[in-house]
Amino acid sequence: MTTSCSPLKGTIRVPGDKSISHRSIMIGSLARGTTHITGFLNGADCLSTISCFRKMGIEITQKGSDVTVQGKGLRGLTSPASNGFASPDDLLDCGNSGTTMRLISGILSAQKFSTVLTGDDSLKKRPMDRVIKPLAEMGADIRSLSGNGLAPLSVNGKKLHGIRYHSPVASAQVKSCILLAGLYADSETTVIEPFLSRDHTERMLTAFGADVSVRFEKKCGSGKDEGRSVVTLDPPEELFAADISVPGDISSAAYFIAASLMVPGSEILIKNVGINPTRNGILDVAEAMGAEIEVTDFFMNGKGEPSADLLVKYSAGLHGTEIGGSLIPRLIDEIPVIAALSCTAEGTTVIRDAAELKVKESNRIRVMTENLKAVGADITETEDGMIIHGGKPLHGGVIDSRKDHRIAMTFSVLNLVTDGEIRITDPDCVDISYPTFYDDLNSLQ
Ligand code: S3P
Repeated sequence: MTTSCSPLKGTIRVPGDKSISHRSIMIGSLARGTTHITGFLNGADCLSTISCFRKMGIEITQKGSDVTVQGKGLRGLTSPASNGFASPDDLLDCGNSGTTMRLISGILSAQKFSTVLTGDDSLKKRPMDRVIKPLAEMGADIRSLSGNGLAPLSVNGKKLHGIRYHSPVASAQVKSCILLAGLYADSETTVIEPFLSRDHTERMLTAFGADVSVRFEKKCGSGKDEGRSVVTLDPPEELFAADISVPGDISSAAYFIAASLMVPGSEILIKNVGINPTRNGILDVAEAMGAEIEVTDFFMNGKGEPSADLLVKYSAGLHGTEIGGSLIPRLIDEIPVIAALSCTAEGTTVIRDAAELKVKESNRIRVMTENLKAVGADITETEDGMIIHGGKPLHGGVIDSRKDHRIAMTFSVLNLVTDGEIRITDPDCVDISYPTFYDDLNSLQ
């Protein structure tokens, strides 16, 4: 990696959406018939999901981003032990992937076998009580083996009951875990969230034949942001295979959006990016900061997910903005790179209501604050976000990525505009979501 201020130019396709790729393996495995997936993300997190379902007897073939899943129906999974994975290999290893662990725990809670879910050091520090609690309410037997709400988790399949669950956090992982468990419940399951989180599970279950309804309830006389989202699933007899075309991941496109907005003279076209409204908050923030991004070639993938091409041009005179409330779940994974972009804009950016950042692959409020300070930014950590006074001169330095892929990619982008080189520890952690990230960034310079 070298510091460079030459404009970014060209056309790029980012790898497939991570959230949709995980769900395509899980829901494809639970459906009857063959699911063909194109655009699958070949990153370490999604490979962890494939490995878990193979261990549960599902035949999955992969050629790069083309994947075929031979689904065995809702009751077709078998125990890893019965598939020749003798203990301790009957552990399902979720690696670094919170999505794998939280979503699979919902599915495992209703199987006719017992398993243990584990993960790497980072995943074993992330809160699992947020899924243990609602699953236990459904009748599941799921425990943290060390009794502290963290993985490893033991899951003994049970008969489940439908619940109406008020989630304290807007989390698609929690919502999806409960809905996947709800596939097996004896009555309907409802999840109520303070704000609507990404809705890929709802969309994919619908495309596979399930009956899922989504309502938005607004409190009478409340402000624009007050309300809640209510999702209800009627347990189906079966799910049926459907082909899935995974659009590019807007969370990966975010690094190139930010880079192009920061580096004078840049103009890039990012092809086929998922612009699901529950994910595209970064486009709203860019607009609020004064940027112009053209959204063209809108395309709707069957019953599934919308995508478009994004033309991003360097925008002089970006200014700070306020980011909070219902916008947060729509850009939660993009906040590190948005914070970096804010350092290059004039004026103050306030990020609030984002305490969830503390329980991602690293504590992203703390890690971003420490690392941005280390390159000269004026940033203050708050309880639920950060306050950034932009426009200060930025210099090089050593950045501790904490092996968090989004931190490493964020500082690789900021490196384009700092006076002096930024060096990043464990740069290979980008393999989690974007193995070809450095090549793609270099291809635009
Ligand atoms: C994800 C949901 C988000 C996001 C994560 C992927 C998903 O987490 O940060 O990278 O695929 O459901 P939370 O649901 O915990 O907010």
